[in-house]
Amino acid sequence: IPVDPFDLVIFGGTGDLARRKILPGLYLRFWDGQLPETAQIVGAARSEMSDEDFRGMVRAAINEVVPARKCDADRLDAFLNLVSYVAINATGEGGWRELAARMRPDRVQAFYFSVGPSLFGDLAERLHSHKIAGPGARIVVEKPFGNDLATARALNKTLALHFDETQIYRIDHYLGKETVQNLMAVRFANMLFEPLWNAQYIDHVQITVAETVGVGGRGSYYDKSGAMRDMVQNHLMQLLCLTAMEPPSKFDPDAVRDEKLKVIRALEPVPAHDIVRGQYQPGPDGPGYREDAENPDSRTESFIAMKLHIANWRWNGTPFYLRTGKRMKARVSEIVVRFKEPPHSIFEDDTGQSANELTIRLQPNEGMDMTVTIKEPGPGGMRLVDVPLDMTFAEALGEEAADVPDAYERLIMDVIRGNQTLFMRGDEVEAAWAWTDPIIAGWTEREEKPHRYEAGSTGPEDALILLHRDGRRWKELRA
Ligand code: BG6
Repeated sequence: IPVDPFDLVIFGGTGDLARRKILPGLYLRFWDGQLPETAQIVGAARSEMSDEDFRGMVRAAINEVVPARKCDADRLDAFLNLVSYVAINATGEGGWRELAARMRPDRVQAFYFSVGPSLFGDLAERLHSHKIAGPGARIVVEKPFGNDLATARALNKTLALHFDETQIYRIDHYLGKETVQNLMAVRFANMLFEPLWNAQYIDHVQITVAETVGVGGRGSYYDKSGAMRDMVQNHLMQLLCLTAMEPPSKFDPDAVRDEKLKVIRALEPVPAHDIVRGQYQPGPDGPGYREDAENPDSRTESFIAMKLHIANWRWNGTPFYLRTGKRMKARVSEIVVRFKEPPHSIFEDDTGQSANELTIRLQPNEGMDMTVTIKEPGPGGMRLVDVPLDMTFAEALGEEAADVPDAYERLIMDVIRGNQTLFMRGDEVEAAWAWTDPIIAGWTEREEKPHRYEAGSTGPEDALILLHRDGRRWKELRA
């Protein structure tokens, strides 16, 4: 079903994110018949460029990213008819009148701020002073949303001068991933899990987001950020919230976000010995972090493992272990819920018995599996063995059903539909920074250096010890 007619302006329309994600995402929604014929997409950036030049750039970007079978020339031409360009000076006056003239009344209006946060205030103010943004206009902002609590607060305040919270869509693209939303379906649309989803039955939870890529090419951003700000404060935090939150009363933006916020606020401060920071070293496959970041003395972490406690009734005594890193052995994002051992074994030989483990695989190979202990088939007596109950979505639902839209496609459509459920609220982002800040401040105070780990490995050895200490171990990193 097509969404309502809209005008979408992409500030930073010639930038990397626009070319890699936003414009190809919009094209794919068009290809699927979800964009109305009257939709208008305006790229806005500093360089002078004609509509035709911009369309050429968009065409090239789409051809590069979108699979060839979805790239037929006619469809692409039809899409490009919706696209135009305005050269704009974000901090001056140039281009704003022209932009105002392109906007049409009685449309959904959305403004995507795909630019550095230092420009958010200028853009918001000019959209207002040139009377471009109507009362129901929506703005979309990207991470990093601030660098710490103070800067995030300042950004929230700046945006609040011209837009209210219902108009602001803060993107965390992890929330747009199919399996991340499935986490909510699994938890709250089944009777099976929720009664066991607490400290009485769950031994611990592991959340892993491992990447094989390094930071080459974006070292100057990353070196000021590090894994804590780049991944933990946002993506891993969101996964943690969705795993740990109480059931919201309904699937509605504030009901869901209220529950996530409660989780963040219940996080205990993390002592230094419960965190392991790492930095990848040069290896046979490529340069080390410091070369990628072009900073020979860098102390920035490209890996983090940590143990967290959520101080509430549900989770008292059940640790959550988080880890994320670049240049690791495999690209795997998954949540592993390890249940407790049965309290008593009735079997004489219970060597094959182990605790149930539910794994929710976010990417790649989206799906879930659960280990279950059964009797080993055969006449050899009551011997036990673990088998997986495997539900790989592509197998269960067919390849086509598993061919799901990319996170950005879904999130941009949610902006047009006016649904904020999968976007972060201002107080949520601030709470996440309030928890992150003291951790980072501690590293700086202690002048802490990250541990070294070999590129292509599972991270520093201390990350393994973090769990061994507790008699546990990470699930093997296997794509
Ligand atoms: C981004 C981070 O937000 O997420 C990157 O800035 C990271 O460093 C990326 O590589 C991971 O996203 P995905 O969708 O590839 O898992």
